[in-house]
Amino acid sequence: MNFISIADISKEDIQRIFDIADDLKQGRSEIALKEDSVAALIFEKPSTRTRVSFEVAMAQLGGHSIYIDSRTSQMSRGESIADTAKVLSQYVDFIIARLYKHDDIIEFAKNATVPVINALTDLEHPCQALSDLYTIQEVKKKLRGLKLSFVGDIAANTANSLMLAASKMGMEVALVGPKNYMPNTFYFTKAREYSKVGVYDNIKEGVEDSDIIYTDTFVSMGQEAEAEERKKLFAPYQVNKTLVSYAKKDAIVMHCLPAHRGEEITSDVLDGKQSVVWQQAKNKLLIEKAILLYLSEKG
Ligand code: CP
Ligand code: NVA
Repeated sequence: MNFISIADISKEDIQRIFDIADDLKQGRSEIALKEDSVAALIFEKPSTRTRVSFEVAMAQLGGHSIYIDSRTSQMSRGESIADTAKVLSQYVDFIIARLYKHDDIIEFAKNATVPVINALTDLEHPCQALSDLYTIQEVKKKLRGLKLSFVGDIAANTANSLMLAASKMGMEVALVGPKNYMPNTFYFTKAREYSKVGVYDNIKEGVEDSDIIYTDTFVSMGQEAEAEERKKLFAPYQVNKTLVSYAKKDAIVMHCLPAHRGEEITSDVLDGKQSVVWQQAKNKLLIEKAILLYLSEKG
C-alpha cells in the first residue's frame, strides 16, 4: 500500500492510523517496523518539519533513513522516475518523496515495490492533513460536526488534502478566499460527497461559528514567480485578530508552517492563546510514525 492521496485513504484507514498513534502515545504499540528498516527520503523541494520528523520517526522506530536532495541524485541528470523507483526499491523499505508534480509521485508508486509516501506535491500534503486532524481531535475531543474554515489560498496542496480528509471525518469545511478564486475542482467535488463544503469570499460568513481557523502561505513552493501578485490578491484574507473574532470564542488557529508573519497570519495570532501551531507541528512526528507502522501492517 502507498500513501499518496487522501482520495485513496478511507475514513477507516484514518481511524486506524489515529488508533496506532494513540497506542504509540501510550507506549504500547503492537506493530513494529521490520528489523533494520530503511527509508529513502527523496526531496525536490525544501523542508524542515517533514524531513526532520520522518528521519526522527524512522530512528525512534528502530530504523534508519537516507536523505537525498534530488539535485544531487541522477534524477537531476535525467534518470527517469521509473528507473529511480525500481533501483531504490532494491535497497530500502520505504520511499518518502517531496516532489513538484503529483503525477511524478504516482509514477514513483507505479514503479516501486516498496510503499511510497507523499511528503508533499503541488497537489497534496496528506501526512500534514492527518496530523492536523489528529491535533484537532486532541484539542476538541471529536471531529464530526466541527466547522473548519480554511482561509487564504483555498487551492493550495494543504487545502486539497485537508478539505477531503476533514469532510471524510464528517466535518463542515468553509473555504474562504478571494472572489472568483476557486478551489481545486476534483478535491472540492469529492469533499462535497462526504459533508457540507462551501466557498466564501465574505470573511465574516466563512468564519462565522467556526471551531478551527486554518491558513497556509500565500506563495507555495514553486510559485515564487507570482509572489507579488499572490500576496496582493490574498492580503484581505490575512488571519488577524479581527478575523479570529468572527469565529467561536473557543476556536483554535492552525497553520501547517512555515509561517510568513505579517502576510497570511499576524504574529499576535500565531503566538496567541488560540494558536495550536506548535502542538500541530509536534504531532507530525507521531502521525508519521503511525503512517509508517500502518503501511508495515498492510504490507
Ligand atoms: N509543514 C511542512 O510540511 O513543513 P516543511 O515544509 O518544513 O516540511
Ligand atoms: N502550501 C505550502 C505548504 C508548505 C508546507 C507549499 O507547498 O509551499
